[in-house]
Amino acid sequence: MNSPMMQGLNLNRPSYVRNAKLIAWVADMAALCKPDRIHWCDGSDEEYDRLCQQLVAAGTMRKLDPVKRPNSYLAWSDPSDVARVEDRTFICSQRKENAGPTNNWMAPDDMRATLAPLFDGCMRGRTMYVVPFSMGPLGSHIAHVGVELSDSAYVAVNMKIMTRMGKGVYDVLGVEGAFVPCVHTVGAPLEPGQRDVAWPCNKTKYIVHYPETREIWSYGSGYGGNALLGKKCFALRIASIMGRREAQDPPGGLGWLAEHMLLMGVTTPEGKKYHVAAAFPSACGKTNFAMLIPPKGFDGWKVTTIGDDIAWIKPHADGRLYAINPEAGYFGVAPGTNYETNPNCMATLNKDVIFTNVALTDDGDVWWEGLGPAPEHALDWQGKDWTPAIARETGAKAAHPNARFTVSALNNPALDPDWDDPNGVAIDAFIFGGRRSTTVPLVTEARNWVEGVYMAATMGSETTAAIVGQVGVVRRDPFAMLPFTGYNMSDYFRHWLDLGKKLAASGAQLPLIYTTNWFRKGDNGQFVWPGYGENMRVLKWMIDRIEGRAGGAANAFGVSPAYEDLDWTGLDFSAAQFDKVTSIDKAAWAKELELHTELFQQLSYHLPAELAETRVRIERQLAA
Ligand code: OXD
Ligand code: MN
Repeated sequence: MNSPMMQGLNLNRPSYVRNAKLIAWVADMAALCKPDRIHWCDGSDEEYDRLCQQLVAAGTMRKLDPVKRPNSYLAWSDPSDVARVEDRTFICSQRKENAGPTNNWMAPDDMRATLAPLFDGCMRGRTMYVVPFSMGPLGSHIAHVGVELSDSAYVAVNMKIMTRMGKGVYDVLGVEGAFVPCVHTVGAPLEPGQRDVAWPCNKTKYIVHYPETREIWSYGSGYGGNALLGKKCFALRIASIMGRREAQDPPGGLGWLAEHMLLMGVTTPEGKKYHVAAAFPSACGKTNFAMLIPPKGFDGWKVTTIGDDIAWIKPHADGRLYAINPEAGYFGVAPGTNYETNPNCMATLNKDVIFTNVALTDDGDVWWEGLGPAPEHALDWQGKDWTPAIARETGAKAAHPNARFTVSALNNPALDPDWDDPNGVAIDAFIFGGRRSTTVPLVTEARNWVEGVYMAATMGSETTAAIVGQVGVVRRDPFAMLPFTGYNMSDYFRHWLDLGKKLAASGAQLPLIYTTNWFRKGDNGQFVWPGYGENMRVLKWMIDRIEGRAGGAANAFGVSPAYEDLDWTGLDFSAAQFDKVTSIDKAAWAKELELHTELFQQLSYHLPAELAETRVRIERQLAA
């Protein structure tokens, strides 16, 4: 299988690619997928420009106005391919129990037998791009390498922005280095002479992970987390497996964590810098929080972005947890982003962006709901005429609610100077935040690690457009990792508990753990908490708590601030309003605890006893 010429196809390998496993694997995959040609990406700007031009010629992307939006493109996907497909995502471990009840599972042999005919010849008529990438700074001890084979040039250019992609990765790999093999196809082979469509994809979709062999196979979708395999598939699902494995093998190890978390630096007016890692479910404002600008009256406070979606967290010799952002760019939700909600993000998007599924204005720029005044006319994300009148009549959205931008972190004016530090940054606090219109208070501090893990494990959130399916349904989303934990969820809880216990036993100072909910609504259905930059008030309370300066009152769940514990400088927010976002409704909480019980029943296999015990204690305290 490993001959350089496969069925007449030249492997085309550049001489600087020397990794024997990689070369053999590319040959095998080429034999299976049967592309017309192979392109080994070098990650250069020339290559990026060339591929973008090719995508423009193919009708997949269009170039935006070079003055209004320099070096930027817009892609419109097939209307059936707009978000992650959780019901088509599989963890194919040898044992079903190791995937656990929250993941779709199929036995690896059965899945391989299912995928083999689909992948056979799936790249006919297309180019196979070999996309080498590093998740994390090249050569960092926290980083890992992957190689994605894809028949989508759109994937290759997005991967260039989202990861450290290119030639340098082959150097890190050398002759014998390990990599995670990721195969992606849009599942739309072309017969000789067949004209391509602008966004090829297939109705059949499979996003498959094999934990034991650490492989990723993705079929049928060209969109986001389904196709950019370094992100959710590798940096969360496979990496979470890798991190836990290292706690077991060799025995007694600490392992590490791959989390759905933004990372931010918070600098106080005294110049002291803290680092916060915050988990929120998809499309719940992680990018906004990571780029937060403190409001007026918070002079001297500074927030800087390390990452907006994923954190890899490893214990360090000093006993503290250090985190890197394994990504190099942002794949953020466009709708709702504007100069008020996220000015730093707007500046980030001034140039060098790939937009997907936003509207095209008549002057060659982009628009989405929430950006500002609507244009008189635009082409919507499906290329149809869109006007405010049409929107009023039909409800048609100009941009798809899960429309995205892909942009380099280097464009961010609030980029943290340590964002690229190969050693990562030491974490001082974790935040877990759901989207809940009722019940869950604005902010609570856990009194200890177990209480924090309980809060995170039982977190509920209303679903968003980031996932194919119904929007606005409350589901349990433990650690905001429901769709991303690559193994049994209860074992994941155990890994968190064990890590905390082992670090505490070594005398380490563990990060504090908080839960937040920015999304409580009033009787009028409007959000009560102003959110965005005003979240700084909550962040400041947390930092003050870390410094031992802020008050708080204990309740059944942990410690929460009283009205006077938050700094209200520059904001008119009354004690009555504060009560609306912090009050604890005992009846609602009794129902909520029933949902925790339901979750624990679902996760009963290997559920840590500490969590069930914490639930009983909370119930008792609430009833008291
Ligand atoms: C994302 C997601 O794209 O969480 O980040 O869906
Ligand atoms: Mn995400």
